[in-house]
Amino acid sequence: MGTKWVLKATVQKAVSLMPRSQRLNRRLQQLGGRLALGEATVRQRLGWAGHHLRTFSELGGAERLTPGFRVLELGSGWHPLVPLAMVTAGAGEVLMCDLEDLSDEELLAESIDHVIASADSGELAEHLPVVLADRVDMLRDARSSLASTGRDATLGELGLVLCPGDVRRLAPDAPPDLFVSNTVLEHIDPPVLVGILEAFSAMSVPGSVMSHLIDTCDHYLYVDDSISAYNFLRFSERQWRLIDNGLQPMNRLRIPQFRELYEAAGVPVTREQRLTGEPGDLRGVPLAPPFDTMDPADVACLAAWFDTVF
Ligand SMILES: C[S@@+](CC[C@H](N)C(=O)[O-])C[C@H]1O[C@@H](n2cnc3c(N)ncnc32)[C@H](O)[C@@H]1O
Repeated sequence: MGTKWVLKATVQKAVSLMPRSQRLNRRLQQLGGRLALGEATVRQRLGWAGHHLRTFSELGGAERLTPGFRVLELGSGWHPLVPLAMVTAGAGEVLMCDLEDLSDEELLAESIDHVIASADSGELAEHLPVVLADRVDMLRDARSSLASTGRDATLGELGLVLCPGDVRRLAPDAPPDLFVSNTVLEHIDPPVLVGILEAFSAMSVPGSVMSHLIDTCDHYLYVDDSISAYNFLRFSERQWRLIDNGLQPMNRLRIPQFRELYEAAGVPVTREQRLTGEPGDLRGVPLAPPFDTMDPADVACLAAWFDTVF
């Protein structure tokens, strides 16, 4: 078993117990150079945006992808790459929801630069079902005036709306057409997740589409490739509560458990797509309850897309 992840978990736990822990974590990430956007991360985020947009037109109807559609993103994080991609595809408004406003002018500038570069190289059009030239020009204009107008005015010009706070308390002016999240649901406590799904259901109108990418791997895998994607399933709930932290908590839920939470919220799962691992990958991981009695095919899942049409 690796030691790198144990070190990371210990540091995260210590930071999570300090005041303004998200800000402090951001500063530490910045100092360690881990906040800089790499090409692979950009590609991955733009690919995710494309997946959401295709889901929107496949499940909601191709005519929904006409300029002006409204998006809500849960857990926007530091770099607004997905919201910016939505803007180039014609979104009229993107509500960027996170507990805290984690972005800033520098991160916005960096994100816009990457999206423009991707549009100019032709790559963006490979990721997204539609890229509007006038929207890319709008991004260029916004980028060139960013330093003089400031972040908030620039966000406003682009239709990006910061919504800091618990998304369960959000009251949007108009119902979103598309709800999305990227690697967020696996970080939320089950009762809160049910509340979020209920809130989205209440905000939706018939035909609103919801597309969530859930990463069901042990996230410490991303700092320690010596561990299995299922390493965290070896710990009992009690042990995991000691290891887990408030900075990047992991609920460890498996696919059937997510389905149960959707059901509890009265939200249908219209389509489920899994990135399946091999049940054989669980070999060498002594599964703790309740994972030990689940179907290994449900436990050995790396990621999933949960899509809904309201
Ligand atoms: C893993 S991060 C998001 C990563 C980001 N989507 C990305 O692709 O880089 C999960 C985010 O969800 C946010 N979050 C968790 N619960 C929330 C809630 N109830 N309302 C709004 N945001 C929430 C957290 O603050 C956190 O920033």
